[in-house]
Amino acid sequence: MKKVLERLKKLNPEEIDPNTLKAELSKVDFSSVEYMDYLKGEELDSYFRVSLMDFPVRVFLNVWPAQFQLPAHQHKNFWGYIAVLKGLLTETSFVFEEEESKLSCHPPKSFRKGEVVFEPLNVIHHLQNPSPSKPLVTAHFYFPTVTDYNGVKIFDIRNRRITELNEKATSISLDHPEGYYREVKENAFSVVNLW
Ligand SMILES: [Fe+2]
Repeated sequence: MKKVLERLKKLNPEEIDPNTLKAELSKVDFSSVEYMDYLKGEELDSYFRVSLMDFPVRVFLNVWPAQFQLPAHQHKNFWGYIAVLKGLLTETSFVFEEEESKLSCHPPKSFRKGEVVFEPLNVIHHLQNPSPSKPLVTAHFYFPTVTDYNGVKIFDIRNRRITELNEKATSISLDHPEGYYREVKENAFSVVNLW
């Protein structure tokens, strides 16, 4: 992983776009990258993040215990890539049609160790470790290097609610205190399965 970070450090921020970052990441075999040193012997039974680099690309590791999931969310202010280092990652993506308040759900896709997932700007997706027993470890490469989730929308599928985070939010979660949300819309959408 050190080599990857050194390479990314040399990138000119003005030239970073999804293609240039993809070209850099495609030089790496993420199925054999060393990352355990960064986890410092921590147990992999809780969700946590280890920051590796802040500039010019924001890089961190995420540990996902068995079954851990992030609610469906829309990034408004950054895009990037997720590399699977250990375990399995399941992504379900959605399309939101605002005029009809309709959230359409694509079939879930799973990514194995070594695979890289693109997270485009404005994508709406749900991410989960689908394993009933094994942890998942992912590496995240994001640009621009924002550190808050201001403007990120969370689609609470069970309650049909859209919650927008504000600048205090440093994680994608519905468990923040009240002052971390910009807006909550009730009865905000219906869900349509595309599969
Ligand atoms: Fe995301």
